This record gives sequence, structure tokens and C-alpha cells, in this order.
Amino acid sequence: MKALVLAGGKGTRLRPLTHTSAKQLVPVANKPVLYYGLEAIRDAGIRECGIVVGDTGAEIRAAVGDGARFGLEVTYIEQPAPLGLAHCVLIAGDFLAGDPFVMYLGDNFLVGGIGGLVEAFTREACDARILLTRVAEPQYYGIAELGPGGEIRALQEKPEHPRSDLAIVGVYAFSPAVHRAVREIRPSARGELEITDAIQWLIENGHTVRSHMVSGYWKDTGRLQDILECNRMVLERVEPGVAGTVDRLSEITGRVVVEPGAVVENSVLRGPVVVGADAKIISSYVGPFTSIGAGCVLQNAEIEYSIVLDGSSVDGVSRIAHSLIGRNVEVSRAAGVSNTHELMVGDHSRIQVKV
Ligand code: DAU
Repeated sequence: MKALVLAGGKGTRLRPLTHTSAKQLVPVANKPVLYYGLEAIRDAGIRECGIVVGDTGAEIRAAVGDGARFGLEVTYIEQPAPLGLAHCVLIAGDFLAGDPFVMYLGDNFLVGGIGGLVEAFTREACDARILLTRVAEPQYYGIAELGPGGEIRALQEKPEHPRSDLAIVGVYAFSPAVHRAVREIRPSARGELEITDAIQWLIENGHTVRSHMVSGYWKDTGRLQDILECNRMVLERVEPGVAGTVDRLSEITGRVVVEPGAVVENSVLRGPVVVGADAKIISSYVGPFTSIGAGCVLQNAEIEYSIVLDGSSVDGVSRIAHSLIGRNVEVSRAAGVSNTHELMVGDHSRIQVKV
């Protein structure tokens, strides 16, 4: 069995972060979301892993390398444009050869691993096995309609009026029959070759497609609220430990990780919190469900339920919450007496200020 990880695409919903960086590398508890997927693939006993990359390929290659540190042998597959998930299968034909494979969307986060999927796919022969979960907003996902016996009746990609609330999770197992399906289908209204349509083609052409519900937690981390939620969930289970320095004036409660070289002075850290390597937290409050990246500096700041990426600073600003702050960002108090907000913000940013 091989794995095909999809790490190309556009990432429009996480702009402006994704103008400069791959969405699959946004950190959850200070670790790129893609790494969790690669670890799950390794833990399922798979070694050969193809990674589809696009515009952000250089960054993905720099982060993953040859895969040895994940226990994987990685082959990179260049996708010239994000033409759809089924297009990824099409261009990975040589790599996949005649082998069955797991396809893993690089921005998906699945607690509990993929061992259950691989095991069920191997035990009960079929040409595709998909994972389903109930969601509140099915119009944003691929959706499955099941018959009375639990069999899949039909699949639809992001329907305007969903006929079920069962979303297709971004981890699939396929036999080589899928190669014919991805050649037969045509681009959808949004111009992409949809994997959902390829699976529907398999169903309509007499192939066996099975499904089961995911038992654990699953999130597509493509949207801000989802990545914050995912971060919260991972931090709740993080193994606490202080490798950096925390002075006696500081107060630490709950699950808190202070990575090597980080300094905490005169501050309150209310876990679950992770403070990255070489970060400085001075006279600040870091509240629950917050990840502070490596080399960040927080001074006279208050922040909670947020993610701050590496190298950023927050100085003299309080009550930051539900926020995702990119790399090397400066957030500070405006000087002078005028009661104004002074902003220099990248394209497609979102700022919400309380006035
Ligand atoms: O997350 C689950 C959902 O993922 C499913 O419910 C949908 O049926 C499925 O189509 C997919 O929808 P998304 O709109 O969330 O897919 P997205 O465009 O975000 O792409 C998923 C991953 O695949 C992401 O890591 C980027 C990568 N990708 C995407 C495209 C379109 C590629 O590598 N190449 C591509 O051409």
C-alpha cells in the first residue's frame, strides 16, 4: 500500500497567510498540520509516500525533505496548476503504478490515525473506502447520501442544498480501479476534476465503494475557526513540560509547554498553552488554547485562544482573542495622543477592532 498526500492547491480561505506560505504548514500546537498526516501514514505501516505539490512546493520540500525523519520514502509530484483532487491522482499514475493507496488531503486533521481505514479496506475488498462524519455546514464539503442498509447511494461535491449532513473526510483508500474513474470524469462547475465525482463514477459503474463513520475528531483546517478549534483540541492533550526559563514572579497553571530557550518573566500562562523555542513572554497574560511560535516576543500583552506564528511580536496590546497572527508580524500600541488605529496589513487580511 502507498500513500498520496495532497499539498498543493490555493488556500484562498487562509489568506493572507497562504500568499506567502503553504496552508498545509500552518502550525497546530506549533507543529505543521501536514506532519500529523505524515505521522499517521507512517503509523499505519505505509512507507512509500507521494506528495503532490504546487506553487508552494519549495516550502513543502524544505519542511519534509526526503521523509526519512518521518520514517517515509517521499517522492514529490509537481502539479502545474490546482486542477482538482482527481487531477492529483491522474498525475500520480506513474508513482502509484498498480498499487492500492491511501489519499490524504494535507490540510486535514484526523485524530486516531488511519490504521482503522487501512485495516477495513484490506479486510473487506472494495475499490474505494471513504470516511464520513456529521457536520453542521454540509454545503462546504463533499456529501454522502446513504441508503437504508448504510450503502452509499450518491455523492455530491459542496451541494447548495445538501441532502445529508454526512461529510466526506479528506482521507480515502483506493484500489487501482480509480485510475480509470479519474480519466472518465469531466471538470466540475468550479473547473476542477473532483475526487467525489470519480468515486460516484465508480459506484455508477458497478464498483464496490464502502464507507464508515470516523470514530475520532476530524477537521479540515482550511478556515480560521477550524484551525483554532484544532489547535484547542491538540493543546488539550499536550504533554506539559518546561524546558525554557520561567521566573519566580510568573504563574503557570494547567497544561503548559515552554520549549527550550524560551523565557517567561512576570507573566501568567494559563494552559493549555505552548510557548515556542526562544520566545520571550514578558509581563504578559497568555490564556487557554494559545500557541506562541518560536522566537516570538510578547510584552505587556494579553492573548488567548489564538495562534501566533514564528518571529512575531505583540507589545502593549491586550485582549487579543480568536486570532491567527502570521510570521514576523508586529502588533503594538500606536504612539502619540491621537486615538487612532494605525495599520499596515497585507492583502486579504481581516482585522476586527472593538471601538
Ligand atoms: O476536507 C474534506 C473535503 O476536502 C471533502 O469533503 C471534499 O469532498 C473535497 O473535495 C475536499 O474539499 P476542499 O475544498 O476542502 O479541498 P481543497 O481545495 O481544500 O483541497 C484539499 C487539499 O488538496 C489541500 O491540501 C490542497 C490540496 N490540493 C487541492 C487541489 C484542488 C492539491 O494538492 N491540488 C489541487 O488541485
